[in-house]
Amino acid sequence: MVCRAQSIASHLSPFSSRRERPMHPAQTSSDSRPAPRRGAAMGSRSGDAGARGVATNAVLAQYESEEAAQYYSVILGGGGPDLHYGIYTSPDDSTTTASAKTVTVLRQLAEAAGAVFAPGVRVLDLGAGAGGAAQLLAETTGVSVTCVNLCRKQNEANREAVQRRGLSALITVVDGSYDDLPADWTATFDIVWSQDAILHAADKATVFAEAARALVHGGYAVVSDVGASANADAAALAAYVERMRLAEVLTAAEYEEGLAAVGIDILRTRDMTGHIIPNYRRMLGRIARERGRLDACSDAFLDTVVARLRTEITALQEGEAHAWFFLVGRKCGGV
Ligand SMILES: C[S@@+](CC[C@H](N)C(=O)[O-])C[C@H]1O[C@@H](n2cnc3c(N)ncnc32)[C@H](O)[C@@H]1O
Repeated sequence: MVCRAQSIASHLSPFSSRRERPMHPAQTSSDSRPAPRRGAAMGSRSGDAGARGVATNAVLAQYESEEAAQYYSVILGGGGPDLHYGIYTSPDDSTTTASAKTVTVLRQLAEAAGAVFAPGVRVLDLGAGAGGAAQLLAETTGVSVTCVNLCRKQNEANREAVQRRGLSALITVVDGSYDDLPADWTATFDIVWSQDAILHAADKATVFAEAARALVHGGYAVVSDVGASANADAAALAAYVERMRLAEVLTAAEYEEGLAAVGIDILRTRDMTGHIIPNYRRMLGRIARERGRLDACSDAFLDTVVARLRTEITALQEGEAHAWFFLVGRKCGGV
């Protein structure tokens, strides 16, 4: 297979400095975590065990408690399996529609770079959550998807949905961490897909290396993530990292560097930051409307989330907060 380095086809517009960006503001603050890093050193496979453990605990605390699970499912996912930002293009768009649009737009960006989604194509979804993207991709294109995800309740929900939707022949759900994939997955997947999940990694370089290892030569990395704006000042970035309990946040340019360092050439990037505030506003509206039926969520929890969302909207309006971006790369170097 001929695989040659290609220039970046679309530029990371607003990423000329960094911002920060959280994910979905439902975390509570915690103590014992390492100082936030930004642009962490690329290259270590194992990463820092302490930081990794803290990141894992933060993720489990963020998503696995009963109230957090209900919040994410109802408020972020609109009751469906998608735990990522949506693309709202019409006031009438439901969360399900907007979430599906995100998956479709990311897939189309990958297809524009040459990736093929079709029966027989093997996709690995890193941080697959409850399987929203995997289920949609399998249903609409016939690809086979292996989902690897840390949160076991989400994995159970994914498995149930896979069975309910008749996708068992196409989707496999694995409990695990994207920074330590099984040894026998080397050069196994045609596409590594990840949506809004790698931000949680204590050491993104390790995840990039694992993604590259799992890809066949010529395979595609297709990623959406929340990261730092190129323009964020250090104090704003530190505040964001603190609010979001992240170990490190990277700019889109740093994702590019990190992926290039493991032999993945970036073919496409797209800044999606403008879509974040509409998502937060929808989430605020949904909290107001659905509060009565969020029986697992305490008022204190929901009040904290509402305050957090408002803080993030203000930070974005002031131009000092996080970013959301899509990247598509192709494995041309490395093993
Ligand atoms: C915002 S959710 C996105 C889920 C899914 N990709 C989606 O788009 O619906 C972030 C996900 O990252 C997963 N995650 C965080 N750290 C992880 C790790 N070390 N290994 C695997 N998954 C991880 C969590 O389980 C969570 O489901």
